[in-house]
Amino acid sequence: MVDKYGRNINYVRISLTDKCNLRCIYCMPSDIEFEKNYINDVLSLNDYKFIIKGMSELGINKVRFTGGEPLLYPNLVDLIRYTYEECRIDDIGITTNGIRLHEMAYELYQNGLKSVNISMDSLKEYKYKSITRGGDLKDVLKSIHKCLSLGIKVKINCVVIKGFNDDELLDFMLMTKFYPIDVRFIELMPLGEASKVYKKGYFNIGQMIDSIDELYKVSSNKKSAAQYYKYDGAKGRVGVITPMSCSFCSECNRIRVTANGNIKLCLHSKEEIDIKYYLNKPLIFREIMKEMILEKPEKHYLNENRFSDTNRRMYQIGG
Ligand code: GTP
Ligand code: 5AD
Ligand code: SF4
Repeated sequence: MVDKYGRNINYVRISLTDKCNLRCIYCMPSDIEFEKNYINDVLSLNDYKFIIKGMSELGINKVRFTGGEPLLYPNLVDLIRYTYEECRIDDIGITTNGIRLHEMAYELYQNGLKSVNISMDSLKEYKYKSITRGGDLKDVLKSIHKCLSLGIKVKINCVVIKGFNDDELLDFMLMTKFYPIDVRFIELMPLGEASKVYKKGYFNIGQMIDSIDELYKVSSNKKSAAQYYKYDGAKGRVGVITPMSCSFCSECNRIRVTANGNIKLCLHSKEEIDIKYYLNKPLIFREIMKEMILEKPEKHYLNENRFSDTNRRMYQIGG
């Protein structure tokens, strides 16, 4: 599928649930209650399978499962197996908080999971507990080790917040010297809960990286959200994700599916297309998808007006 700016769309990010077992302060309100009357997760396992199969036939060759927390989705193993075996998609990843991953990594890997992006914003247990409102850092570290031992590619996402974790960046970077992992520092985006901390918490990551002489820039995939750097002889890389600067919009190859059955053509646009009516109708689905792709916005305007147009919160998009 090619959009009207000539971008080849071959990557879908599929949200499996809005629910999460953490409540990161920049993502979820502390008092959000999912269990009672929560009706936003509407797609069935068969709906997801239909979407992935249909998209694979249209040229999608990379799938990332997101959330909320995708490991809370009860049929994740089956869905990964289906994506790998029935749709012949090899590039399968998840973006997760990693809390439960050590228990599930082996089964996920056996069924086709290749890579994990794990959110970890502090290396100090008390700070991790405070930013996630209760998470245990030991679980995440256990998951990282488990994935590495299995051969699953690991990227760590660290959202940098001034006055909170900017004193830990060197410790994060040093991890890449000894482990084959990518540690990515993410610039805070002012959407949802993050808008409350944005003004005080924004930290200029690019400036910090430029000040470190031992790090050198490595050429990275243009379609990646991250610019990568390396220490000489290091096993992993340090990445910087600056979503505010819009530097990768011109190469964007992504679309998103939300847990309530909408297609989002851009992370930051308001427009969504409800595809529930086209499920189990392969021919119509194909036509609608091709038409829809043409409407993918050229870019976001965060760096111009500093607001995201989306009405969704981060946990309802999956990043
Ligand atoms: P891979 O390249 O598949 O590893 O994905 P990723 O690194 O983009 O995905 P991940 O889920 O780990 O997200 C990391 C950060 O990038 C999050 O803060 C996302 O919100 C941000 N991000 C992901 N996709 C986009 C996008 O299309 N536009 C912008 N502006 N930011 C994005
Ligand atoms: N700005 C930047 N990154 C965010 N994430 C969640 N909310 C924000 C935000 N407002 C990150 C998570 C996760 C990834 C999918 O997005 O920490 O790693
Ligand atoms: Fe959950 Fe991720 Fe949001 Fe944290 S950032 S509350 S782990 S969805």
